[in-house]
Amino acid sequence: MTTDPTTQMLAQLGDTTPEKVTARFAEVRARFDRQAAEHSAKKDAEEWKAFVIAWTGRKSGVLTNVGDNWLKPAAKELKPVVGQELNKLKAHVEATLEEKRKEIEAAAEEAAAARDQIDLSLPGVERAIGTRHLIRQTFDELLRIFLSIGFSVVEGPEIETPYYNFEALNIPEHHPARDNMDTFYIEGARGGHLLRTHTSPMQIRTMEKQAPPVRIVVPGKVYRRDNPDSTHGYMFHQIEGLAVDTDITFCDFKGTVEYFVREFLGPKAKTRLRPSYFPFTEPSAEVDATCHVCGGTGCRVCKFSGWIELFGAGMVNPAVYGFVKYDPEKLSGFAFGMGVDRLAMMKYGITELPLLFQNDVRFLRQFP
Ligand code: PHE
Repeated sequence: MTTDPTTQMLAQLGDTTPEKVTARFAEVRARFDRQAAEHSAKKDAEEWKAFVIAWTGRKSGVLTNVGDNWLKPAAKELKPVVGQELNKLKAHVEATLEEKRKEIEAAAEEAAAARDQIDLSLPGVERAIGTRHLIRQTFDELLRIFLSIGFSVVEGPEIETPYYNFEALNIPEHHPARDNMDTFYIEGARGGHLLRTHTSPMQIRTMEKQAPPVRIVVPGKVYRRDNPDSTHGYMFHQIEGLAVDTDITFCDFKGTVEYFVREFLGPKAKTRLRPSYFPFTEPSAEVDATCHVCGGTGCRVCKFSGWIELFGAGMVNPAVYGFVKYDPEKLSGFAFGMGVDRLAMMKYGITELPLLFQNDVRFLRQFP
């Protein structure tokens, strides 16, 4: 094993002339070049680090050794040559190392890019695209019809006060009309909140805020204390409608209702108004349409009557205007409230209400 000449002094090596010094430096440089060439292809980071330290390490790297062992103790007349040669060697080593470092980094980057490359020929991740729920579809259809004849959409809170849900709609406490609107009450600091039993409170809230004319529809969820069965749940969906102006007649009411029924059920559907009762409309009516299954001749679906009950409606009871400071002498209007789930079940022949809320894809897929 030959000892590294840079660990010895020049005098020990017998290099006493500038020529010999230059030759000695050339030898060191050649050794560096040989080792560096081996490293160009290598990607092992540890080996590279060791190589760099072996040459430039401050403690016992070759360059340090040359400085300590060759330059410092050099004879006076040799010092300039040694200094010059050392500077050249240093510059060469540093430049080469820098160049190689860049080469190695570029190669590593390339390798990483190749690793991360997206293979467009691979099959993609398929995410099932959902569909609009049948209730949403029905809402959209109903709103489309009313928007097309000048109604606009407003929404309101599902947690209401008894005032908006009952009193201002002309349903005083202990009124029997509250019986079929039993609901869920919320106990709280301010007390007396409930889950709205219908979307009608938005009639009041809208008229309180807005001067006539009013022409709104209100889609939303409503709640009642019902025993669940195939057509009842504790929650269902409604769309409320309200039109109030200075010249609205029963004729406008009937025309609007008939237009709606034809749009929703088809041009052949006929409409019938049956007397009914709601405290906030006067007169009140149930709107029936000819059975969509038999066309009015009678079948099991319409219980052989030829008619299907669609929704409740009527002319706004003037008593209601008193609650919102509208002038009952000058204003008139009509209102309606329809059960969206009911309409969807009827239109699509669904007999079980719970199907609408179980989100069984085998059901949902039937209404893409
Ligand atoms: N709010 C009534 C109900 O839920 C429906 C209705 C609305 C009737 C507007 C007349 C006018 O039963």
